[in-house]
Amino acid sequence: SDISKGTYPYYMLKEIDEQPAVLRRLVQEYINEDGTFNFDPKLIDALKEADRLYIVAAGTSYHAGLVGKPIIEQIAQIPVEVELASEFGYHMPLLSKKPFFIYLSQSGETADSRQVLVETNKRGFPSLTLTNVEASTLSREADFTLLLKAGPEIAVASTKAYTAQITVETILAQALAVAKGLPSANDLDVKHQLGLAANGIQTIVDSKDDIEQLAHEFFANTRNAFYIGRGIDYWASLEAALKLKEVSYIQAEGFAAGELKHGTISLIEEGTPVAAIITDKETASHTRGNVQEVQARGAKTLKIVSEDLAQAGDQIIIPTLETVLSPLVSIVPTQLLAYYATLQRGYNVDQPRNLAKSVTVE
Ligand code: G6P
Repeated sequence: SDISKGTYPYYMLKEIDEQPAVLRRLVQEYINEDGTFNFDPKLIDALKEADRLYIVAAGTSYHAGLVGKPIIEQIAQIPVEVELASEFGYHMPLLSKKPFFIYLSQSGETADSRQVLVETNKRGFPSLTLTNVEASTLSREADFTLLLKAGPEIAVASTKAYTAQITVETILAQALAVAKGLPSANDLDVKHQLGLAANGIQTIVDSKDDIEQLAHEFFANTRNAFYIGRGIDYWASLEAALKLKEVSYIQAEGFAAGELKHGTISLIEEGTPVAAIITDKETASHTRGNVQEVQARGAKTLKIVSEDLAQAGDQIIIPTLETVLSPLVSIVPTQLLAYYATLQRGYNVDQPRNLAKSVTVE
């Protein structure tokens, strides 16, 4: 059945491996053969009415929202704010005149997110839930629902729901751009890009033995580690660091590469692992400069670089996508690095201590 591990030792690895299939399923689900979109027209109308989108989420779903912001802003030309549910509920900022709320939640049950939804419902604001669980609480209580179609996610650390959320955000942004008649609506061939992403993830998961070896060398005997990046690579770095710390208990931080010198660089010692994600040609040389700075202070470094920007010595080369969509592939080696670092430490990667799959208390 869907929830058996099959031949996999852990759900987390199975779920990482399922990502290409999930992306392809979502393209089939939401993009029709003729290139039109399979979304409720009422949802698209409500989005067209809005002057600003507010994405509300927790944990990994929040990180999928951070990536969704530049995707939606670039494709659909509408401002997007991304908010932590646990903060937003009690400290609601001044809202725009016509806000539209998007709740991202793998489980659809997160109490922090639900608490905000109850409040925005009370104020009469339109809402959409992106969730993996049909008829979940957040799905029932929002005006609209889009399903992530990722199949049950059993491992506590979320992997396939993250890439599924980014995929749905992307397709939805494109549908909105088309509905708004934006001249830029077809600048980005979303269907083609998502196909490239699915194939790209497949090549990464096919090279998992190499990544296992790298994880072993890179994270051996360390108590802390850093992921750095700029722009979209920074947002991916936050999720990469979260995944690593959740399951391996290595204290990991995602950092804006340019901010290192304003603080965190003081933490670099002989042998501190610093992984850089580099997929944006605008800033690639700057991030490479930051890698050299930490190397000069003794850091052990690892570069995850898109093919078009790769140089000799880069350890993990990933397929090139439109920059803003690059987390769909750049996150995958970091999921595998977290997975293998955890196995090497002898921990149960599917059930990290103190964490629950869905948190139904505020
Ligand atoms: C819990 C899980 C996280 C998850 C977060 C949000 O804390 O341990 O992995 O990202 O909740 O969950 P949701 O179901 O709302 O996406």
